[in-house]
Amino acid sequence: MSPLTRRQLLALGAAGAGATVVGGTGLWWTATGGRGYTGGEDLIEPQVLASREDVLELDLTAAQTRIQVGGRQASVKAFNGSLPGPTLRVAPGDTVRVAMTNRLEAPTNLHVHGMHVSPEGNGDNPFVSIAPGGSFNYEFALPADHPPGTYWYHPHRHGHVADQVAAGLYGAIIVEDTEPVPVTRERVMVVSDLTLDASGNLAEVSQMQQMMGREGEVVLVNGAVRPQLNAAPGERERWRIVNACPSRYLRLRLEGQQVRVLSRDLGRLPTPEDITEVVLAPGNRIEMLVETTEGSSTLVAAPVDRGGMDAMMGGTMMGDNETGSGEPVELLTLTVSGAPVQKPPPVPEGPGLRDLRGEPITARRTLDFAMGMGGGAMMGSGGGEGDTTMMAFTINGQEFGPDRVDTPVAAGTVEEWTLKNSSPMDHPIHLHVWPMQIVQDGNRDLSEPRWQDVVNVPARSQVKVLIAFEDFPGKTVYHCHILDHEDQGMMGTVEAR
Ligand code: C2O
Ligand code: CU
Ligand code: CU
Repeated sequence: MSPLTRRQLLALGAAGAGATVVGGTGLWWTATGGRGYTGGEDLIEPQVLASREDVLELDLTAAQTRIQVGGRQASVKAFNGSLPGPTLRVAPGDTVRVAMTNRLEAPTNLHVHGMHVSPEGNGDNPFVSIAPGGSFNYEFALPADHPPGTYWYHPHRHGHVADQVAAGLYGAIIVEDTEPVPVTRERVMVVSDLTLDASGNLAEVSQMQQMMGREGEVVLVNGAVRPQLNAAPGERERWRIVNACPSRYLRLRLEGQQVRVLSRDLGRLPTPEDITEVVLAPGNRIEMLVETTEGSSTLVAAPVDRGGMDAMMGGTMMGDNETGSGEPVELLTLTVSGAPVQKPPPVPEGPGLRDLRGEPITARRTLDFAMGMGGGAMMGSGGGEGDTTMMAFTINGQEFGPDRVDTPVAAGTVEEWTLKNSSPMDHPIHLHVWPMQIVQDGNRDLSEPRWQDVVNVPARSQVKVLIAFEDFPGKTVYHCHILDHEDQGMMGTVEAR
């Protein structure tokens, strides 16, 4: 008799998400099974550092840290000893000064993902490299009309990004609304994933996992396994969710509660949109309004098929090189009980979103994101096993070169970029400094303005975006936000002059 698969065990109710919960905590099995993590503690939010008199000054130290993850001792890397790092709370027009210290064994730096700030000098400059033991003083000056929203920070030193983010180096940034949104409670939820080995160290990552984009065996919310939250009926909570996973896509569902989207990546939708599920690619954020009704609900991340390399690999490595087949992961549970509270007033309409489709377009370009055999990196290279297959991750045929300018643009103009994916895997494409307005997804024209700073381009498909290169001249990058792909070369440079 063959052993039962996990799926069969689930059907029998013998394992998995329904594992017994005793006194709020219980044994928790990850989707890959095997190792026990405990979960079910109350959701804890990172410390909030807020600006005062238009300035936020802080020290950020990236270092190896020992913490508890899901009841296990874990050796991770974190900012200021906490995973996630502190939440930075600022307002449009503020200045943020970060004294960053690198206590890691590899070079690092700091990026403020999604922020519309200068990429030059000691601003949001991805070309800075802080050596081990070194430090650097960053200064980010937000324009007075900076869009409100949920952003985040993480290291961006090419070649080390996936390792450092996967190890725990990230934190949220909140840019306050200009018009307040009436809610009874606000929560920050930074979602990440990691894999620990038996002694609590971060597990080694295979070359196949790097090619696919590593996914951790356990998914965390604010560093905790399946935390739990409480609310009363009739509340309106605002959840600010960051997908800080290096590669994992999150298809989020919260059944039993009314859920509306208030913001995607940046800015605010004019009116909140009803949804039943939302997909966050790595790097994406969502702000959800959750209007509570009595009962218990689970925020679930269902698997996402983001393609695979089976076709490229000749179908020889079944399972390891395809995505989307795992079990849904329970991210957190919300218990709504007690005396109903008085409903907050309705959400006032926000300002309309800008639409670049009315503006003159100065240039049209195509960026072709490709994966191919025979490139410069990966797969068995240096392994000495005779397996010298190489996999290249390229944009318009080139791997990242920090000294080139791949895409010179005229400052102050609007361009149309066709993001073309000629590979068998999805790539979530991210541009620094200037957000993108998605105008065509595959063959579908979008009727409403839709702005994001990470845009998923499905396998063998294309997405058209408009970009206004305003406010800041300078050189920065665009790249795949599957951070393993970025580290392997799927990144290009853009300079506005
Ligand atoms: Cu979230 Cu260039 O990165
Ligand atoms: Cu970014
Ligand atoms: Cu990619």
